[in-house]
Amino acid sequence: MEKMAGMTGARFITFEGGEGVGKSTQAQMLVEALESRGLRVIQTREPGGTPGAEAIRALLLDTNYEWGTRAEALLFAAARSDHVAGLIGPALDRGDWVVCDRYIDSSRAYQAGGGEWSDDAILSLHTLGSHALMPDLTLLLQAPLDHVAQRLHLRDGDNSDRIGGKSASYHKRVAEHFRQMAMTDPERFVLVDATGTPEDVHKRVMRAMAPLIGEGG
Ligand code: TYD
Repeated sequence: MEKMAGMTGARFITFEGGEGVGKSTQAQMLVEALESRGLRVIQTREPGGTPGAEAIRALLLDTNYEWGTRAEALLFAAARSDHVAGLIGPALDRGDWVVCDRYIDSSRAYQAGGGEWSDDAILSLHTLGSHALMPDLTLLLQAPLDHVAQRLHLRDGDNSDRIGGKSASYHKRVAEHFRQMAMTDPERFVLVDATGTPEDVHKRVMRAMAPLIGEGG
């Protein structure tokens, strides 16, 4: 699998951020905006996106089994490997755009930032599993934790998934790791204020996308 995006103009865009910050709504709105410009776009998410990766998603999130932190990180990497080989890579090779709700930075934030792995170890798994394929642009959605807690309660009630249900201090570490990654890689990351209406946030997303779709600043 070779990344052809540079040759075809297709781009690989990821949304990242904590739970309930509006990533899937914004991914959907971005896909519609790109399609309305005549672009072919694949919308996908992690963990998941291919039958194999969706099966791993169910193992990770929908069972009460307590995976150890090592097995958990390997499973996320295995799901991503299947997703890159089966969907993302072929789409970019065809010249389609790819918009993905969570990707490698979620593993870095949750398994390294929130857990016991180092960032380097997570990136090594990504090299082994997925040829270290990185997005062209990562939109990191950010909102204050109390704002997010309200949205999550509306969405999930008391039924948050196994990872979403972890402690506030865990989620604080995750948020901090996301912020640090964005600071260290300002070329790839754009911080997007996720407060306000979905339309407000979408406008900010489109401003960040302007250079990639040739619409000026
Ligand atoms: P999901 O329902 O996709 O996310 P959200 O709650 O943002 O709508 O749940 C995915 C969960 O898996 C979420 O809690 C983050 C976690 N996760 C990791 O820990 N590592 C990863 O690599 C990925 C992709 C997700």
